[in-house]
Amino acid sequence: MRRPLVAGNWKMHGTCASIKQLLNELAEQALPDDVDVAVFPGLIHLQAVGAQVAESHLVVGSQDCAVQLEEGAMTGETSALQLKDIGCSMVLVGHSERRQLQDETDSVICRKFIAAQAAGLTPILCVGESLAEREAGQALVTVQRQIDAVLVELGVEVFNNAVIAYEPIWAIGSGLTATPEQAQEIHAQIRAHVAKYSATVAQDLKILYGGSVKAANAAELFAQVDIDGGLVGGASLNAKEFSAICRAAGN
Ligand code: 13P
Repeated sequence: MRRPLVAGNWKMHGTCASIKQLLNELAEQALPDDVDVAVFPGLIHLQAVGAQVAESHLVVGSQDCAVQLEEGAMTGETSALQLKDIGCSMVLVGHSERRQLQDETDSVICRKFIAAQAAGLTPILCVGESLAEREAGQALVTVQRQIDAVLVELGVEVFNNAVIAYEPIWAIGSGLTATPEQAQEIHAQIRAHVAKYSATVAQDLKILYGGSVKAANAAELFAQVDIDGGLVGGASLNAKEFSAICRAAGN
């Protein structure tokens, strides 16, 4: 039985004051006991968020890490060990916005995945196709390529301590959610692909859906057998919305 995970990716949003308020509001909301809940603030807010949620069950993660594990001469970068040191336990790798805006390649993402695990962080590997790729019938091919960049390179066992987030690019921040059937189809294909290498790893692997998840559509997405929770952008900045999404992932 896979325990659901709902993760809020705050992207480049928030001020010290607004984030403090968001967490205060979230503390007043009922969060389910049978769901893991994680938040991914921007780098500069990680420590303050960690301190504020220390007494709660909320997990804190980073939106990115450096390819290099150890500290060193890499201006502007933050290593996975430094993230671990300030209390992070998870990290997003390969978010489509970084693939697009920072030109992150599959091989760079694989190195970040390695660094994350080496530091003791759980990587959430983000994958997903563009609208053009979907329209060309290439959605699965794209997603498999992105997964294979880690799976074939490092071996299936690395997914014992990792999460995959399927985020179709056309559904991110667009208000266009994949239908539960569209999402389930890709999730099932991802799990089947991993199962070719190890049935047990595939069975235990959490696969999150991301892309315009809201309180209004979360329950029907999470009801799909291969959707184990969500990676939530915009709606995670609203405590009521986000907590309702978390509750939708519980039983
Ligand atoms: P939205 O929920 O705003 O579509 O963002 C999804 C996302 O990119 C989460 O990582």
